[in-house]
Amino acid sequence: MIEVNIRNYAIMASGQGSNALALIKKGLDLGRPPQFVIINKADSPLFELAKEQGIKVYSILSSPKGIDLEFEARVLNLCETHQVDWLFLAGFLKILSSSFINHFQQLGFSQIVNIHPSLLPKYPGLGGYKLAFTNNDNEFGHTIHLVTEGVDEGPVIYQKVIAREANWNFEEFTTVGKKSENKSYGLVLESLLKNGLSWDGHKAELTWELNI
Ligand code: GAR
Repeated sequence: MIEVNIRNYAIMASGQGSNALALIKKGLDLGRPPQFVIINKADSPLFELAKEQGIKVYSILSSPKGIDLEFEARVLNLCETHQVDWLFLAGFLKILSSSFINHFQQLGFSQIVNIHPSLLPKYPGLGGYKLAFTNNDNEFGHTIHLVTEGVDEGPVIYQKVIAREANWNFEEFTTVGKKSENKSYGLVLESLLKNGLSWDGHKAELTWELNI
């Protein structure tokens, strides 16, 4: 069993940025803000929101599809300059190459964390909320996991199950789901920053019980 702590972390995002902002705010509250945020899409509101919080933001546009090695090289360069050893993906919608993931896997497990809007292994890929809603699932939620080569397949460190209320429309359903994501991701970051992660070769565990 090894126990690992975060030295420095950064955030990568593609979209609205609510999860990235939740991580930034939690990091600032704890006096451990991210070293920087990377946004790979133009026009993300997160660009201004992160700057308003005093966080360095890099806009590094990537190819719309597939792996983008040039984008990854620029990210790795920044991580090396800022001694970033953990990455948090927050609505980051791009597949990463195995060599990029390996770079953050030097202790045997991945130090890249992702949040996914479904109860994995259910609904990997895109559209987690849509599928849970249209399939009339009674329970839905999100999964926070370490990133491995298999998309949405890495070791789970936290999963939140939410009971669906019958009268919710899709907008209410996703609003509840997203708010809950934001809360969980902040608390997982807090747990990792304060207590690190234990790894037994197969399973990754937060050493601090989340009280959500
Ligand atoms: C979130 O629901 C997140 O779980 C999802 O994208 C949304 C981003 O929202 N991520 C994925 O689907 C990754 N496979 P945000 O930009 O407001 O954080």
